[in-house]
Amino acid sequence: MEFIDVLFGRRTTNGPFLPDPVSDSHQQLLIKAAASAPSQFNSQPWRFVVIEHRETIEGIARISGVSMTQVISEGSFFERYKRHFRFSAEEMAEHRSGMYFDKLPKALRPFTKAVFTPAGVQAMRMLRVPHTLGEENRKLVQGSPIVLGVMLDRRDREAHELADFYCQFSLGAAMENVWLTTCELGMGIQFISFPMEAPGRWQKLIELLEVPDDLELMALYRLGYVPEQSDRPAIDWSSRERRPPSQFVFRETCRSPQQGWDQA
Ligand SMILES: Cc1cc2nc3c(=O)[nH]c(=O)nc-3n(C[C@H](O)[C@H](O)[C@H](O)COP(=O)(O)O)c2cc1C
Repeated sequence: MEFIDVLFGRRTTNGPFLPDPVSDSHQQLLIKAAASAPSQFNSQPWRFVVIEHRETIEGIARISGVSMTQVISEGSFFERYKRHFRFSAEEMAEHRSGMYFDKLPKALRPFTKAVFTPAGVQAMRMLRVPHTLGEENRKLVQGSPIVLGVMLDRRDREAHELADFYCQFSLGAAMENVWLTTCELGMGIQFISFPMEAPGRWQKLIELLEVPDDLELMALYRLGYVPEQSDRPAIDWSSRERRPPSQFVFRETCRSPQQGWDQA
């Protein structure tokens, strides 16, 4: 693939992966891509744990599923991130950012506006929506041939005031390399993030993966080969939109937004 095609073809995979194990050479290439990222003073503060063991992935999937059920049940998730959620093509066209929930189960559609209200969350609980979503999330994670744990070395992270920014920036660069490389390999990648949102659940993952004290577990990703065709999850979104340059680029000083670069 041409670099530009990889760059603009990169996606987050919301759906299931093929059950096929990820080849050893592809695993090595993904890690080599991560390690080739820039880091402050070439400090390479990142550490990775590559997980293929089924029982461990099933454990991670269980924690992810119950975390999603917990977070959705509490309603805090919607409150926290509602400014990024869109429920119509018009809303998405207006904002050109965020996640457009263009696939929702029939039962939920009447609630799209209400999900941000306590009454809406209450109604979803009665319809056991949090459990259904949690169970679907568990199956999605469990069906992944590989999970990648991403960590930072605490010594690098706590070295000085700016260290945490430099480490997280470097880690972001490393993960973008992994993300781009999945594109080249016909693979997909997605955050396993609900355990981050549910207090206590992340600690369970730290224990499951035996993360030592000098390392900090920063994120978990599920990876695998992407099927040609696959059914979209019951709740699904698209997030291909990007803001036009005039909304995030300035010319010379921040008084003057960039003109003439916006495409129709
Ligand atoms: C810091 C960060 C956190 C993210 N968290 C999640 C997440 O929790 N679940 C998820 O499905 N995608 C997550 N994503 C992926 C974004 O949703 C995705 O990058 C965005 O919607 C744009 O879609 P694209 O990656 O297909 O271009 C995250 C991405 C970043 C950089």
